[in-house]
Order: sequence, then structure tokens, then C-alpha cells
Amino acid sequence: MSMMNGPSSRLFFFFMVILSTFLFLQITGIQAQVGLLPPNEVDALRQIAKQLGKVDWNFSLNPCDGNPNWRSPWGNNAQYSNVVNCTCSSGDVCHVVYISLKGQDLAGVLPPSLAKLPSIKIIDLSYNYLSGNIPNEWESTNLEKLSVTGNRLNGSIPTFLGNITTLGYLGLENNMFSGKVPAELGKLKNLNRL
Ligand SMILES: *[C@@H]1O[C@H](CO)[C@@H](O)[C@H](O)[C@H]1NC(C)=O
Ligand SMILES: *[C@@H]1O[C@H](CO)[C@@H](O)[C@H](O)[C@H]1NC(C)=O
Ligand SMILES: *[C@@H]1O[C@H](CO)[C@@H](O)[C@H](O)[C@H]1NC(C)=O
Ligand SMILES: *[C@@H]1O[C@H](CO)[C@@H](O)[C@H](O)[C@H]1NC(C)=O
Repeated sequence: MSMMNGPSSRLFFFFMVILSTFLFLQITGIQAQVGLLPPNEVDALRQIAKQLGKVDWNFSLNPCDGNPNWRSPWGNNAQYSNVVNCTCSSGDVCHVVYISLKGQDLAGVLPPSLAKLPSIKIIDLSYNYLSGNIPNEWESTNLEKLSVTGNRLNGSIPTFLGNITTLGYLGLENNMFSGKVPAELGKLKNLNRL
């Protein structure tokens, strides 16, 4: 017992305080390494989930820290994916740049709220059961890749797509679109693949 009295117990106590502080900083530090989305982008993701019919995004987790709920490990299945990627500036503020949700049996519509993500570059919603058409709101995005291959989209291919001049990849096949391919798509000067 005498070991736990006097100077050595104070030393022990002091050591424990240092150790707990260190552990606390480690834990909180790890969480602070990855920045957060601004509240309006989290809100946009909630709306996107609702519009798509995606029910399993866990909003208690940070969409940008690469946890498996928001970014499932890359498989070699070309017809399935579950990925949200962000770009983070100097570890504090993040923006969603990439959403790929392939082969998830999503049965809603293409989400108009995608246009509320200011940095979105890539959207891949291939092999689902999405219906309706490509929302007008998407005209204001700077999408580089848009794939909606293998859904239930109908109506005519919208002419405003010709105004998303950042597009390099446009995947529309295996839907129920009708009518002509709009001449406006000729304005897509960066297009590599249609
Ligand atoms: C969401 O994540 C939190 C934190 O890890 C966890 O406690 C909760 O059970 C998760 N919710 C669902 C529905 O998986
Ligand atoms: C998503 O993020 C991971 C980790 O930073 C990276 O390895 C991967 O290339 C990113 N994927 C895309 C398509 O941006
Ligand atoms: C598209 O399909 C829906 C049913 O899913 C139908 O109500 C609508 O009239 C169709 N629109 C066009 C333009 O074919
Ligand atoms: C494309 O953009 C031009 C110039 O801003 C505009 O006049 C036109 O209405 C747009 N086209 C469509 C189909 O929205």
C-alpha cells in the first residue's frame, strides 16, 4: 500500500492524466482529420436519398470520411457500386464530387436536388428502376460524367443536356427514351463517349 501513497501515487495520477489527455486528443483528432459537409449539402443528400428511394445512407456517420456505409469497398462487379466521394480543402470543408449507386434496385426518380451539390462532377445511377426523365435542374451542374444506363426513363432526351458542356461521358442506353437524339448534343465539345 505504501507504494500508492505520497509522491509515487501523485506521479501515477499525473501519468494517468497525461495518458487520458493523449488518448482524448488521438480520438478527437482522428475525427477532425476529415472535414464536414456544409449543412446545405447534407440537406441536399437527404433530399437526394428521398427522391431516389435510397433508405440506407446513415446520416449519423460523416459522408466524407470513407466509412463503408457511404463508401463501400470497390469490388470488381461492374453492375454494382455504393460510393460517395468528397473533396476536402485543407481538412475542414468538404464537398460531394462523386456519387455512384449502381444496381441497388432504386425505384424513385433522378434526383432534382443533385443540382444543390455545387461541386458534383460524377453521377452514376446505372442498373436501377428509376423512372421519369432527367430533371431540368441538372442543367446548372458542371457534370463530367452522367450515367443512367439501364433504368426506366422515358420521354424525349432533353435538349438542355447540350448545355452541360463539361460532360465527357453521357450514358443513356437501355432506357425507354423516345424520339430523336437532339442536335443540341452536338454542343458537347468535351464529349468522349455517348
Ligand atoms: C448509424 O451509425 C451510428 C453510429 O455508428 C450507429 O450507432 C447506428 O446504429 C447506425 N444506424 C443504422 C440504421 O445502421
Ligand atoms: C474515391 O476516394 C478514394 C479514396 O480517396 C479514392 O481512392 C478513389 O479513387 C476515389 N474515387 C473516385 C472515383 O473519385
Ligand atoms: C412515362 O412513364 C410514365 C409511367 O411511368 C407515364 O405516366 C408517362 O406518361 C410516360 N411519359 C412519356 C412522355 O412517355
Ligand atoms: C441552353 O443555354 C442557352 C444559353 O444560355 C439558352 O438560351 C437555351 O435556352 C438553353 N437550352 C436549353 C434547352 O435549355
